[in-house]
Amino acid sequence: MRIILIGYGVVGQSLTSMFLRRRQETVKDYGLNPKVVAIVDKGGAAINVKGLDLEKMLLLKKQKGTVAVDKEFGNLEISPLEVITSTEAEVVVEVTSTNVKNGEPGLSHIKTAFKTGKHVVTTNKGPLALAFPALTELAEYNKVFLRFSGTVGGGTPVLELAKKCLAGDRITAIRGILNGTTNYILTEMAEKHIAFDEALSSAQKLGYAETDPSMDIDGIDPACKVVIMANWIMNKKLTLKDMDVKGIRDVTLEALEKAAKRGNTIKLLGSIDGKARVAPTEVSRHDPLCVSGVLNAVTFVSEFAGEETIIGRGAGGPETASAVLRDLLDISHNLADKMLT
Ligand SMILES: NC(=O)c1ccc[n+]([C@@H]2O[C@H](COP(=O)([O-])OP(=O)(O)OC[C@H]3O[C@@H](n4cnc5c(N)ncnc54)[C@H](OP(=O)(O)O)[C@@H]3O)[C@@H](O)[C@H]2O)c1
Repeated sequence: MRIILIGYGVVGQSLTSMFLRRRQETVKDYGLNPKVVAIVDKGGAAINVKGLDLEKMLLLKKQKGTVAVDKEFGNLEISPLEVITSTEAEVVVEVTSTNVKNGEPGLSHIKTAFKTGKHVVTTNKGPLALAFPALTELAEYNKVFLRFSGTVGGGTPVLELAKKCLAGDRITAIRGILNGTTNYILTEMAEKHIAFDEALSSAQKLGYAETDPSMDIDGIDPACKVVIMANWIMNKKLTLKDMDVKGIRDVTLEALEKAAKRGNTIKLLGSIDGKARVAPTEVSRHDPLCVSGVLNAVTFVSEFAGEETIIGRGAGGPETASAVLRDLLDISHNLADKMLT
């Protein structure tokens, strides 16, 4: 499987490290032999149709900041779209930064990959949150696969639990803690009896929250994940603009303490139950959803199987790269099945 890797930050580098560590197993146990033929970052690209030396790429990125300075295979001028169009490959792995204003540059990368007959694996929530129905249609039209397991729950197989393990059942509602940063802040407030600002600065010191934390604390990141689940699992044609979104800026210590007296706490829940929304919600401390710290948890309510809750780490480079690897395996199995029929 020839792969074009667009974006070489935390997730992209974790993925190539994982390829290096797991190559023997992926070939022997799964019949997947990934060959990275191009890597793109903001500095340009490195391209080798025979497969790039990934150890060298990781070292170059660390030491020089871009893979485009590689003496043999680097190109400082080429754009990501030119790389996608002109390089032969089966799959584009799109792991550039999330942008919820217009989905770029990821949206154009994904559309160009489809138009040139390439499957896409992405962890980038922006394009999916803004244009999920259009992107799945375009993938179908071009007869290619779009996979995005890492967009919800990092490495935790949230989407697969619903889509594969509960296949045949009907999921009637979903509710979940979909953002580790806000869960950490609310947990700190409740357990240490501190105000929102103090908990936020603790999250920033530990690297859980960005300097501009609005994607998390205003609920936009979990809203993107709700959109993805609503479309993929419940077949609802939603985009971000259809969501009711409220973050945690107004959650007070007093409100948390009142909830505690009732045996509850307040969590930022994303839910699809008729309406799709994100809002601070009182939850029983005995509810399996009530996880602490940076953990994520999602409960699926299904017609026959009842309620299942999946809990795990919602982010992290190696964790999210493991979701990308699962998606690559899924595509490779689907392609093998197609060849048999
Ligand atoms: N990290 C996680 O735990 C996690 C979990 C789930 C989902 N995600 C999502 O996965 C994606 C990647 O995350 P990350 O943590 O790896 O981000 P990151 O460390 O910020 O890396 C982003 C990469 O994209 C490249 N890039 C950005 N704009 C570009 C452009 N216009 N042209 C070419 N390259 C461009 C950057 O290039 P430079 O290296 O040159 O700056 C960088 O290599 C994001 O959408 C994120 O929301 C991340």
